[in-house]
Amino acid sequence: MPPVRLIVLAAGKGTRMRSALPKVLHRLAGKPLLAHVLDTVAALEPASVTVVVGHGAEQVRETIEASARAAARAPAGVTSRPPEEGLRGLDLRWALQERQLGTGHAVRQGLDGIGDDEAVLITYGDVPLTRSETYRALLETCDAETLGLLTLMAEDPTGYGRVLRDDGAVVGVVEQKDATEEELGIREINAGVLALRGGVLRSLIGEIGNDNAQGEYYLTDIFALAVRQGLGIRAVHPDDAWEVDGVNSRAQLARLERLYQRNVAERVMAAGVTLADPARFDVRGTLETGVDCRIDVNCVFEGTCTLGADVCIGPNCTISDSHVADGAVILANSVLEGAEVGPGASIGPFARLRPGTRLAARARVGNFVETKNATLGEGSKANHLSYIGDGEVGAGANIGAGTITCNYDGANKHRTRIGDGAFIGSNTALVAPVEIGAGATVGAGSTIGRDVPPGHLALTRAEQQHVDGWQRPAKKPPSPESGA
Ligand code: UD1
Ligand code: CA
Repeated sequence: MPPVRLIVLAAGKGTRMRSALPKVLHRLAGKPLLAHVLDTVAALEPASVTVVVGHGAEQVRETIEASARAAARAPAGVTSRPPEEGLRGLDLRWALQERQLGTGHAVRQGLDGIGDDEAVLITYGDVPLTRSETYRALLETCDAETLGLLTLMAEDPTGYGRVLRDDGAVVGVVEQKDATEEELGIREINAGVLALRGGVLRSLIGEIGNDNAQGEYYLTDIFALAVRQGLGIRAVHPDDAWEVDGVNSRAQLARLERLYQRNVAERVMAAGVTLADPARFDVRGTLETGVDCRIDVNCVFEGTCTLGADVCIGPNCTISDSHVADGAVILANSVLEGAEVGPGASIGPFARLRPGTRLAARARVGNFVETKNATLGEGSKANHLSYIGDGEVGAGANIGAGTITCNYDGANKHRTRIGDGAFIGSNTALVAPVEIGAGATVGAGSTIGRDVPPGHLALTRAEQQHVDGWQRPAKKPPSPESGA
């Protein structure tokens, strides 16, 4: 196959979205619609991808380029890899269509740099779920004499261009608004994706006029023009009808989101995971799973997440860019972001693990505990109501309820180190920088600002007093004047 050039149309306004955000930046599975298309076409290893932008051109370009930059910066395999990984290394170009005069006019803006013998694939930025295999099949049908066109038999063809055939051969496409009564009865629709040679495209696109019901330059006029020049048109069908579903409204976006998530859920279940309800399971990024994981309802996975085997996740958990090892348990309503969870560890319910949290094997982080930039060694516990920020906790340590690492002095962050087997009593403030030695004990209610040597007991609690003869104040009897 000759080099492949992509033209992605994304200049339309998307009026029916009723949004200040350009339509192609609306997110499906956490990622802009346009980024889905770009990720998919990246698999074709195209020589270049030209996106034709118009409405919100600057915003579209800035958003997508920022993701591409982030993708280029992130080394493969790191936890915070952005989902738009496909943008890495893509020769992305932008063409401006100042006024939206139709799809034919839009394509004309994107022709720069396309060689006559190269293959051109034209797609839309608001059709996010087409498979790369479908694009490839279309590219393989096209040659110097043949155009490839993606079509399918629709249950309800309303709104789409209808495919005209003569003796079985495709001879053109007529838009809904220009179709005769008889043509409106045709159920084969133009999905909007086509492939053809650069030279063919360049020669035909100039001949397209705008003498039609909408006064637009229709890209679809190219087919009748091609037939007139003796070229052939071959129709290719997608494996699934949803591959050609576009987003024109929020309702369609929601439908495609569910469809996408349903497909992910099927894959995850096929890989050996039990989902309490595949309709209440969302992946916005990539999720790798080991066998025999159990995931309860309403869990959301973002960015790049991996679960080992036999991981159990309770309801209502949000997990982003995190790795959870074999046999770990995450109880209800926990939030993990940029965390590494060791084998057999236990988290939650209601725990919040922020970026840089690393839990070793069998560590436990219980309810209302927040961690950030913190490591907990093997078997260490922080079971209730604590904040561990910028801390290193050794193995077998016990962090009592209400322990707070005071890591911020108002200007800088400081670290707290807690040695193996240390015991921190409840309601302790550890004023960083500070180190609690291995095996040391801190009495409950202490404020610790100096290092505690290994094995020592430290406590700063004020001594308890007992006051002899003290009496509780009694309520005064009401005075007669008060009128009570
Ligand atoms: C188009 C096809 C129709 C097909 C349908 C499939 C034409 C004339 N018609 O119709 O046969 O069945 O798609 O969904 O091509 N765009 C621009 N600049 C413009 C106009 C459109 O960039 O001036 C972009 C839009 O942003 C959108 C895509 O092209 O991504 C399609 O435009 P739209 O107006 O939705 O075309 P349809 O009327 O749906
Ligand atoms: Ca459309």
